Amino acid sequence: MALRTIRTQGDAVLGKVCKKVTESNERLLDLVKDMYETMYDAQGVGLAAPQIGVLKRICVIDVSPDCSEPICLVNPVIVEYSEETQTGYEGCLSVPDKTGIVTRAMKVKVEAFDEYLKPVTIEGEALLARALQHEIDHLDGHLYVEKVEGRLFDNSEFESEDAEE
Ligand code: NI
Repeated sequence: MALRTIRTQGDAVLGKVCKKVTESNERLLDLVKDMYETMYDAQGVGLAAPQIGVLKRICVIDVSPDCSEPICLVNPVIVEYSEETQTGYEGCLSVPDKTGIVTRAMKVKVEAFDEYLKPVTIEGEALLARALQHEIDHLDGHLYVEKVEGRLFDNSEFESEDAEE
């Protein structure tokens, strides 16, 4: 396993539409392992393949506090969005030290495949739903900053504002 370099905003790879994965092999399994390692090392809750420069429809997510609920999604598609929405802070490993307010569906249902190309269906709500929508956006070349309401906060500023409350 190896840590991969996380590409940041301004890198053209983040704006590209990723290609579907058509076969599971050692290379895919190694890539997924590297994605988990890179995500956990960066203390993120999700990472999409284009963020490490790979234009394939793969993302990994773990929204648990103790890194105990890894989810790998290959060729994911959101098939249901709740009408109910959530508005909250969002960040991205490719937009370091920034945070913005984004409205997302409160619940989504995703059909995908795992790294062995076995079909999986995931229903997520709250933070998991937010992560699913955010990561799947990456596979189509979209960053959350396109959806931010109001301005983007610098994390240092955000933390100091929080501390005053
Ligand atoms: Ni992101």
